Amino acid sequence: MMHVDRYEQIWIRLSVFVLIAFILAVLTASVSAGIQVPGVVQRVDPNTVTEPGSPWAEPGLRELAPGKYEAYILAQIWVFTPDEIRVPAGSEVTFYVTSKDVQHGFKILDTNINMMVIPGQVSKLTARFDEPGTYTMVCHEYCGVGHHTMYGRIVVEPTQAAAE
Ligand code: CUA
Repeated sequence: MMHVDRYEQIWIRLSVFVLIAFILAVLTASVSAGIQVPGVVQRVDPNTVTEPGSPWAEPGLRELAPGKYEAYILAQIWVFTPDEIRVPAGSEVTFYVTSKDVQHGFKILDTNINMMVIPGQVSKLTARFDEPGTYTMVCHEYCGVGHHTMYGRIVVEPTQAAAE
């Protein structure tokens, strides 16, 4: 049998233990905080992405079912189209965001939405808006001199039941 020094054995066990602890920490954080990793959903041609037939030709909110929406957002220097979306509280919104020109970012404050927006690629994430209020969406990837002016908002309106 191969001889492993006692101290080396201790260090090997310790390294394995640390790895397992890290994996558990990542799993716990992702499940309890609802972290979603944005993946590549779809590829598009940034040159034709706003032509008729493309969902970004008329970007905006579409209702799929009561309380369920999808939002197509077009990013370009230095604006999001649309730059305002209104949904009732308790809504679940899936965002499909793409860029017409350069790389942008898409982050909605106080939600789990935080992704890069790359021309040629569609970024997708889903968020639930339970609390009425205004949620700011910002571009958080530097995209030129007007980068700091690139923002919009999600207005979550109180539902009838909550307003009464
Ligand atoms: Cu778009 Cu920064």
